[in-house]
Amino acid sequence: MKALVLKDAGLIELREISKPTVTTGKALVRIKAAALNRRDDWIREGKYPNIKFGVTMGSDGSGIVEEVGDENDLPWVGQEVVINPNIEWGSDLEVQSSRYTILGMPVDGTFAEYVCVPIDRLHHKPFHLDFLQASTLPLGGLTAFRALFRRGELRAGQNVLISGFGGGVAQFAFLFAQAAGANVYVSSGSDEKIEKALKLGAKGAYNYKKHSTYTDLWKTKGGFDLVIDSAGGDQINSFIKILKPRGKIVFYGATNGLPAKLDLYRMFWNQLSLLGTTMGSDHEFSEMLTFVSKHQLRPLIDSIRPFSKIVESFPDITRPNKVGKIVFQV
Ligand SMILES: NC(=O)c1ccc[n+]([C@@H]2O[C@H](COP(=O)([O-])OP(=O)(O)OC[C@H]3O[C@@H](n4cnc5c(N)ncnc54)[C@H](OP(=O)(O)O)[C@@H]3O)[C@@H](O)[C@H]2O)c1
Repeated sequence: MKALVLKDAGLIELREISKPTVTTGKALVRIKAAALNRRDDWIREGKYPNIKFGVTMGSDGSGIVEEVGDENDLPWVGQEVVINPNIEWGSDLEVQSSRYTILGMPVDGTFAEYVCVPIDRLHHKPFHLDFLQASTLPLGGLTAFRALFRRGELRAGQNVLISGFGGGVAQFAFLFAQAAGANVYVSSGSDEKIEKALKLGAKGAYNYKKHSTYTDLWKTKGGFDLVIDSAGGDQINSFIKILKPRGKIVFYGATNGLPAKLDLYRMFWNQLSLLGTTMGSDHEFSEMLTFVSKHQLRPLIDSIRPFSKIVESFPDITRPNKVGKIVFQV
């Protein structure tokens, strides 16, 4: 079968490898669609913990169960599924276990014609989505769901700012927060994306490249209950300024690195929280899929490409005009 393998730091290769053999407790899924995450590019660059060369990459995938290891699991054969990429989150809903990893490094992932996963990683594909749309959900949907609802405790009627609307995770945070009845604002470095967010119902939008502070938004909108961010850097201090007292910043990444300083004075005086989050529990994965089905949400897809173009597509994950997910038809 064809699979995208990490050959060396900075070097990925679409190559022919043997189809995995299904063992007890596992299922063989014929991948129909797989989606790209920023994580895959960090792995390609070798900037991720526990890098192993020769591993098949990819965390996001949907497909059809072709074979199972145990007779009891036969009802799964032929089912249309999405795969939970969590490996050993553990039983604590608050935090992952020390054994936690994510499908696609260090274990073989979804950028292949077939993947073999434990049977409890299988979930029925939301009925209203096709394979391409469903394949975008696992990593980004789960991260956004936990960030908003468990860590951010978002409620209907609250003001939330989704920073970097064009991001793969951010678009889910945007869709989920809207569906939950929040007043959703966005920031983006592109006027084109801002335009798109406003068309999709954002209450306000802000170009972080054009203003050095968020003062206008803060003054005009009365402040935010919650900011969801993955860029990090010094901008965190602007978020601190635009939060209401008791407000929260939930961050799931730090693409732009660390802040040079942190406005601790304003944080303690206004009872603010700065909360980290990563992925989500297995329970949240199920909740996220139920939420997507209940609200009939459709992910934003930047582009659909043939699997044969996956190597040359990697640089596009950082392309400034990308909105939503890059998906491969496998
Ligand atoms: N902890 C976890 O579980 C977890 C899960 C998923 C992702 N992540 C991390 O989160 C980050 C984003 O992941 P992704 O998959 O969503 O990546 P992505 O699709 O590449 O999106 C990145 C987005 O960041 C935005 N951005 C860049 N500079 C910004 C700034 N100064 N202010 C606000 N936004 C800015 C851009 O939004 P605009 O184009 O709109 O300007 C860009 O589209 C990555 O570092 C990734 O590794 C962590």
